[in-house]
Amino acid sequence: MKRVNILVTGGAGYIGSKIAHDLIQNKFNVIVIDNLATGYKFLVPKKAKFIKADILNYKKIESIFIKYKIDSVIHLAASLSVEESQKRPLKYYMNNVLGLENMLKLVSEFQVNSFVLSSTCAIFGNSQRGAVHENSVQLPESNYGKTKLMSETLLINYAKKFKFQYAILRYFNVIGADKFLKTGPVKSPTLFKVLAKNIISNNLSIKIYGKDYSTKDGTCLRDFIDINDLSNLHLEALKKIKKLKKSFILNCGYGMPKTVLEIVNEFAKVINKKIKINYFPRRNGDVEKIYCNNQRLTKILKKWKPKFKLNHSIKNQLMWEKKLRKYNVFTKRK
Ligand SMILES: NC(=O)c1ccc[n+]([C@@H]2O[C@H](COP(=O)([O-])OP(=O)(O)OC[C@H]3O[C@@H](n4cnc5c(N)ncnc54)[C@H](O)[C@@H]3O)[C@@H](O)[C@H]2O)c1
Repeated sequence: MKRVNILVTGGAGYIGSKIAHDLIQNKFNVIVIDNLATGYKFLVPKKAKFIKADILNYKKIESIFIKYKIDSVIHLAASLSVEESQKRPLKYYMNNVLGLENMLKLVSEFQVNSFVLSSTCAIFGNSQRGAVHENSVQLPESNYGKTKLMSETLLINYAKKFKFQYAILRYFNVIGADKFLKTGPVKSPTLFKVLAKNIISNNLSIKIYGKDYSTKDGTCLRDFIDINDLSNLHLEALKKIKKLKKSFILNCGYGMPKTVLEIVNEFAKVINKKIKINYFPRRNGDVEKIYCNNQRLTKILKKWKPKFKLNHSIKNQLMWEKKLRKYNVFTKRK
């Protein structure tokens, strides 16, 4: 049987590389486009075709669509630091909105029939406290969240006009590493990454921002989703939009919120050591509580079953961090 070509933008990044590995595992041909702004070539599966390209370079991306018959696009390429987006809003508008528009023009021109977009719970902003469903009020705080919300609208309008199917997947907090340690987060300021890095370098401490939120222990409440489960969700979503010939938007989380302190305690349990907590004042823009109402997700993707427990994700994250350190990948050129 002829293998189908899937184009993964941002496929040298944390989530995109994991999806690329899983697509290869599932016998797809994978073409990865990445400008390596925050991605790493060593994360891309050897069996994928890697093309160093910027989605803002229309001509170059067009040449890829001319060369390969693309069946579907999974679009992850984006800039995603909330903090940076406040300082450099135009960079975010260019990359996340205009970059996406380039992809959508090509998808329309070359009659690609399915498109998966990485979106985020940051589109809900601070207006929401507690469980958010797909139609909860969307009032993003940051420029990052705003550009992602614009991306969703742009995609919906293109898909309507050019008649292709889409899945918009709004991730909550993504955690862990590939279960075979083929890929994982290299640099990111997330709680999981910082904790794992500290632990592996024998620094058994962590900063927590804010201890007076109205949650059970005063620290922020979040919904965490394992990278392996999230990647699998993309494969299921792609199958589903093709089968149903319908588009959908899904909030992607387990709907089982944990506080920041609970996460630190779980890490301590896994390593069987104490972790010293240094409390700092609240950070601007941190949402008190946000977690996922995943009723629609579990209804639409019936075959998708979360397999990773929190301690499993923590173990993978720690082993990945150890691997990064051992092979000293930071010194390798991109
Ligand atoms: N990590 C999370 O917890 C999380 C949560 C919600 C949503 N997301 C979304 O998931 C997607 C992937 O995030 P990630 O965590 O893997 O981040 P990442 O930074 O590891 O991956 C993004 C990739 O896109 C590439 N890229 C950026 N701009 C590009 C451009 N103009 N042309 C080509 N490539 C470009 C980067 O080099 C990088 O490899 C993003 O769209 C992000 O908004 C991530």
